[in-house]
Amino acid sequence: MLVLGIETSCDDTSAALVEDRTVLSNLVASQDALHADYGGVVPELAARRHLETVQTVIGRALELGNRQLGEIDVVAVTRGPGLVGSLLVGLSAAQGLALALDRPLYGINHLEGHVLSPLVEAQDDFPLLSVLVSGGHTAMYLVEDVGVYRELSRTRDDSAGEAFDKGAKMLDLGWPGGKVMDELGSRGDPTALRFPRPRVRDDSLAFSFSGLKTSLWDFLHSDDSKGHSLEDVCASYQEAIVDCLLKRVGEAVERFAPASVAVAGGVSANSRLRRRLTEQLSHSGMTPLFPPFSLCTDNAAMIAYAAVRRMENGLPGEQLEAVSRLPLGSVQ
Ligand code: KG4
Ligand code: ZN
Repeated sequence: MLVLGIETSCDDTSAALVEDRTVLSNLVASQDALHADYGGVVPELAARRHLETVQTVIGRALELGNRQLGEIDVVAVTRGPGLVGSLLVGLSAAQGLALALDRPLYGINHLEGHVLSPLVEAQDDFPLLSVLVSGGHTAMYLVEDVGVYRELSRTRDDSAGEAFDKGAKMLDLGWPGGKVMDELGSRGDPTALRFPRPRVRDDSLAFSFSGLKTSLWDFLHSDDSKGHSLEDVCASYQEAIVDCLLKRVGEAVERFAPASVAVAGGVSANSRLRRRLTEQLSHSGMTPLFPPFSLCTDNAAMIAYAAVRRMENGLPGEQLEAVSRLPLGSVQ
């Protein structure tokens, strides 16, 4: 079963080939440079760039996977959530290909792609606690099986990725700044400064990052900021984000006793989060699952892989109109 995946939900144009559960190729054309001057994704520019790039990226994915167009069995595409203009480009390309090749078309929820991505190189062990930490979303799900997702909590305000990106912007580290903050932070002292750990109601598993962002702003505009290295500020700010995430994960593990824990989305690439979660879970005899680095940020391999896993379970693809806001429910 050869699946062509197409992902254009935000600012990365991606196409991938997945055969059964194996990733043959995964091409991502990043638009970071296009949006960097604006400090965030400009939807109109993103959609136009997808339009210019999508055919080439699909062609390269076929080339790198060493397969011909006619060998594709199924076309899988992100239907949402995301920017409607961006989604429509991928959807139209996928619909055109499926029609021309006379192959089925699978609409996939982008969040399902992220949630299943840690399983590409690991064994399933359900129920799985999924911690989704990306630029657009921060949420926890209890995954009973492929297609059966229960949302346990989400962020009340910013996502973890936004906390990294907005913090990095205040520090003039460019955009998106999560990776740079990770690198600088790994050379600093995470205990040098104490940023607040925002708390939502105690019995809630919800996250909140907007207060933390404000505290960095206040710190940078205070006299106190003079005597600290950039590395120490990054390490301490990053530590506060990681602490907030780990606290909620710890509570969810206690409450729901999952068989395994997996982290997904762009922030799952963060080295401090990986190290500290691995250490925290070792006390309960668990080892967290992370996607390979190439599958952390947005990519089409996770979309094709989700289609494979849904087909294996006899589940249909989702509706095919582009949807800007789309919760991850149980779609069976
Ligand atoms: O999953 P993703 O590509 O986009 C969404 O679906 O939203 O995630 C992008 C986010 C950005 O906020 C980026 O700064 C963050 O992932 N990110 C990181 C790291 N690599 C990417 N954040 C922290 N540490 C990293 N190493
Ligand atoms: Zn994403």
